[in-house]
Amino acid sequence: MAAPPLVDSFGRIHDNLRVSVTDRCNIRCFYCMPETNVQFVRRAEILDFEEIERFVRVAVSLGITKLRVTGGEPLVRRDLPALIRRLAAIPEIQDLALTTNGVLLPELAAPLYEAGLRRLNVHLDTLDRERFLRITRRDDLGRVLLGLEAAKRVGYARIKLNAVAVKDLVEPDIVPLARYARENGFEARFIEFMPLDAQNLWDRSKVLTADEIIAMLSREIAPLVPVPDPDPRAPASEYEYADGGGRVGFIASVTKPFCGNCNRIRLTADGKLRYCLFALEETDVKALMRAGAADEEIASLLRRTVAGKWEGHAINSAKFVAPPRPMYSIGG
Ligand code: 5AD
Ligand code: SF4
Repeated sequence: MAAPPLVDSFGRIHDNLRVSVTDRCNIRCFYCMPETNVQFVRRAEILDFEEIERFVRVAVSLGITKLRVTGGEPLVRRDLPALIRRLAAIPEIQDLALTTNGVLLPELAAPLYEAGLRRLNVHLDTLDRERFLRITRRDDLGRVLLGLEAAKRVGYARIKLNAVAVKDLVEPDIVPLARYARENGFEARFIEFMPLDAQNLWDRSKVLTADEIIAMLSREIAPLVPVPDPDPRAPASEYEYADGGGRVGFIASVTKPFCGNCNRIRLTADGKLRYCLFALEETDVKALMRAGAADEEIASLLRRTVAGKWEGHAINSAKFVAPPRPMYSIGG
């Protein structure tokens, strides 16, 4: 008999797991990482491939069917294709995806595809070399563009381009990025800047909202019309150009929170389970695994963590407290 689903006290069923495989990164985007002196977790504290696969299998036995591999930057994890191969072999996983900054894609697009990966989200905020340098503090735009070409050539379906929408700073990039995506058959997605940066730079006035971007693209490129949502629990709202030029997605986490539909849990690279991106507490899965726990104990810890999940983040209230971990150590 199949186990009952992972459900929280608000009735939300959880079938989506995001696994961070490293907190390290080869660039330093300001909305995620500090510029210098990044505190990385010691290697011994990072889950190995056996541990990751074991946790994923337990989660799958409780109804997880969607898996996304994240970081830090997942492609800096040594032998990542070997892990992808193991995860892609789990038959219950219907959707396996990866989020990357693209810098190592020129080398890794093909081996990852060959290992069974079919879906990629590539982070790209700008097509301008100077601004790329300002945002990421690294001069790697050329590599990301080569990486995207490589991914396209290898045959990934529906490559998505993620950009964080920050007022003023990336405003001039929105239209060129959307055009570039349209021309290459990629799907642009704009994510409202969230209070997850390491230096407390966020404030509400720096959020470029989904509505502002929709207006901008509709004016400059072609009218955008909402697409009826095939998966109402996915965070992105999808739009289509009225002229048939493809899709654009918006993740309006700040102006239109979607916590009521949340189906996601996250495992950090150091083996902590988080029921929310913004959670202030976490569950130590690694300690349990390394103490020799049986699968049933891990499963019951997972159930308890989901059962104790809060209603959602409070970005829009005065009570909001930013989580102690910035983005790179949670895994988007
Ligand atoms: N606000 C919104 N999105 C962010 N990301 C990283 N930091 C932030 C932030 N402060 C997104 C990036 C990355 C994904 C994992 O998370 O788009 O691709
Ligand atoms: Fe889910 Fe937390 Fe994100 Fe809301 S903020 S959608 S509860 S992960």
